[in-house]
Amino acid sequence: MEAKVDGKEGLILVKQGAEARVFESTFVGRRSIVKERFSKKYRHPSLDSKLTLKRLNAEARCMTKARRLGVCTPVLYAVDPVQHTLTFEYVEGLSVKDIFLDFGSNGVVEERMDDIAVQIGAAIGKLHDGGLIHGDLTTSNMLIRDNANELVLIDFGLSFTSTLPEDKAVDLYVLERALLSMHSSCGNVMDRILAAYRKSSKQWSSTQNKLAEVRQRGRKRTMVG
Ligand SMILES: Nc1ncnc2c1ncn2[C@@H]1O[C@H](COP(=O)(O)OP(=O)(O)OP(=O)(O)O)[C@@H](O)[C@H]1O
Ligand SMILES: [Mg+2]
Repeated sequence: MEAKVDGKEGLILVKQGAEARVFESTFVGRRSIVKERFSKKYRHPSLDSKLTLKRLNAEARCMTKARRLGVCTPVLYAVDPVQHTLTFEYVEGLSVKDIFLDFGSNGVVEERMDDIAVQIGAAIGKLHDGGLIHGDLTTSNMLIRDNANELVLIDFGLSFTSTLPEDKAVDLYVLERALLSMHSSCGNVMDRILAAYRKSSKQWSSTQNKLAEVRQRGRKRTMVG
């Protein structure tokens, strides 16, 4: 039986966010993901449509750029500027979030975590050296493809191009905070990610200096707040 959600035939809602709805569907017989950016009711309709389209195109472009830089991303199947949707290949596998949350319990061993950490560091290094900032580096935006055990980065909705060490450092800092709050049982996983990042990025030293500054600012903010 075809599922019907929100009046859209054959679509199964995966996630309802503030800016986008994510559905599972099929595209020419292949399992796929449809991401729909919806409008903000408080914005003027024609301005809103323009902005939504701009974001949609930016996401598609950044994902394509990441792939060109040698980072695995889902294959982009289609862009629909009228429905404001992107259609991607469905990546079969768990998110890094689920794997890390299981660390220490369901047989997730140190080596597996290490392997994933190395892949994460190497991927971010490639993005940053290519002048791409992911903008939302959390463990739910990282999938591990079944069988291949390969890291796939998703959700380029907040990505942008920049070569500034500050932007790269903030990108890493967001990940560091996410790991500390969500995956404290994973110990020094960020150190392993940074070790791999260091190997992968030629611009490591300027980013590292900025990261120290960004952390310092973060600490001050926590103390004041
Ligand atoms: N290509 C894919 N294959 C499998 N699952 C996916 C894929 N893309 C997205 N998902 C699933 O859908 C969830 C939401 O997707 P995504 O992160 O792109 O949207 P979002 O977080 O709502 O986006 P945004 O932050 O731009 O509002 C992911 O966390 C993941 O579980
Ligand atoms: Mg996401």
